[in-house]
Amino acid sequence: MTVIAIDGPSGSGKSTVAKAIATQLGLAYLDTGAMYRAAAVRADHAGLLGVPAALPKLVEEMPLEISLDPANQVVRLAGQDVTELIRTTAVSGIVSQLSTVVPARQVLVARQRAVVEAHREPGIVVEGRDITTVVAPDADVRVLITASEPVRLRRRALDQHGQAGAAALAATEDEVVRRDRDDATVARFLDAPPGVTLIDSSDLTVEQTVAAVLELLPAR
Ligand code: DC
Repeated sequence: MTVIAIDGPSGSGKSTVAKAIATQLGLAYLDTGAMYRAAAVRADHAGLLGVPAALPKLVEEMPLEISLDPANQVVRLAGQDVTELIRTTAVSGIVSQLSTVVPARQVLVARQRAVVEAHREPGIVVEGRDITTVVAPDADVRVLITASEPVRLRRRALDQHGQAGAAALAATEDEVVRRDRDDATVARFLDAPPGVTLIDSSDLTVEQTVAAVLELLPAR
């Protein structure tokens, strides 16, 4: 039984690290950010993104399927494959309008907890912004992965645009800096609360960051 909770800001490398750990240990993997992104798409399509009071019900009734295979991430909304759509810059630009609505978060948190409960055996790696504090505060491993702002911008630019020149960095700025500032109003992921280990990945490779997390696994 292993629950590994990983939080961190955009571009911290937490998704890459979380997937690598799940693959290495043969565990399930839950990307909670994908759930917020899918919910924002649903709200946008319904014309309700600007209507906070309507969002909890919309999220509650959202027919979302999300795969838990770290090697094959598929997200479906009402049967439609939205795996690629939810990663677009357009969706990154609107997702905070949903993720900052606390009652809508509570509905998603309940869904996330149900997934964690169902996968305690053999285990699950869960990543997001409030996993160590709200979704799975009893996790066996609780880490906050950060990196300096220039490093995070560079990683996101490479991820989204395939390069990290000045234009790509500028295009990424809103996504990383503004979005994290907005999201930080409802979830604490910029500093590590008591019991959560901070790992600064600025100067670490993916392998080194994975190793730093695995070192925290309790011996069995
Ligand atoms: O990690 P990401 O960029 O895919 O996350 C998408 C959005 O969802 C981001 O704006 C932060 C938000 N989010 C959140 O508020 N809580 C989580 N547990 C995961 C993501």
